[in-house]
Amino acid sequence: MTRLYVHEVVTRDGFQIEPRFIPTEEKIVLVDRLSETGLHKIEVTSFVSPKAVPALADAEAVMAGIRRHPAVGYVALVANPRGAERAAAARVDEIVLVLSVSESHNRANVRRSTEESFAGFAEIMRALDGTGVKVACGMATTFGCPFEGYQPLDRILRFVDRLVGLGVGSIALADTVGMGDPRQVRDVCSEVRARFPEYEFALHLHNTRGMGLANVLSGLEAGITHYESSLGGLGGCPFAPGATGNVCTEDLVHMLHQMGHDTGVDLDRLIAAARGLPALVGHDVPGQVMKAGKSTDLHPLPPQLR
Ligand code: COA
Ligand code: ZN
Repeated sequence: MTRLYVHEVVTRDGFQIEPRFIPTEEKIVLVDRLSETGLHKIEVTSFVSPKAVPALADAEAVMAGIRRHPAVGYVALVANPRGAERAAAARVDEIVLVLSVSESHNRANVRRSTEESFAGFAEIMRALDGTGVKVACGMATTFGCPFEGYQPLDRILRFVDRLVGLGVGSIALADTVGMGDPRQVRDVCSEVRARFPEYEFALHLHNTRGMGLANVLSGLEAGITHYESSLGGLGGCPFAPGATGNVCTEDLVHMLHQMGHDTGVDLDRLIAAARGLPALVGHDVPGQVMKAGKSTDLHPLPPQLR
């Protein structure tokens, strides 16, 4: 079976929308714990305006406090050149530029037009040239925008083409508010893969309408090998009405392993980490395997049947 790669986003996508500020030390402890689970990448935080996202105002302190595992890529989200500068100074391995396919979500999220975002990205690429910091892009609202609805395929392809042209190394196609359905996700992923067959695409799916894992299957059918997900199923964009959690990492890994795929992830460690989340965030979380246990965890027969 194919080798698949899981990127964890809980301390970024998950915590950015939590009403309670998660203390810096607890973020560091969680990242360190996740570093020992075999995940390919961990999106640690965002270097954005602390006024826009107060939950991640401690980005520098978190990056400085974590213990880096040599096999893990440590990633941070960035929206403007100032963020890229901060992220590079904090020695992230990779920055993720955030861009929305839809004009209105781009404005709601980063308060600029998509053209202005592209201009900032060109500046960032020049500034990072030669630093060794890798650059990815998260393309929000690829599978639907809460303000404008579905985005035309030719616009999605044009955006991918421009990012590839700028030298961005990989792209995460993001379903910001879970509007994608399995057929659409398969079609869009197949088109971008056919157009850019050698390029690295990831899927960043939210389970807002219960289609998250079904959409992962569509991604697999289309040959996508990288998946972004959030421990416990936390997550959501504070600037997208109705946003809810990402596809849940341990549920995703559980499904992929059950299907015979190799992710390199230690599922038991992941589940153990997920079970610590409700106490950390102060509420129940959507993850299912952390509650039900794995399909292979059998129960003793009731005594009367023994
Ligand atoms: N890091 C820290 N502070 C930053 C910053 C950055 N990367 N970029 C801007 N700021 C500060 C400015 O210094 C300014 O502070 P001040 O009011 O004390 O002077 C303030 O933020 C506003 O700056 P401005 O350049 O006018 O930005 P804006 O108000 O047009 O907002 C963004 C644009 C991109 C900075 C802001 O919308 C943002 O950070 N968005 C992040 C969105 C996000 O993370 N969404 C979730 C992920 S999907
Ligand atoms: Zn997201």
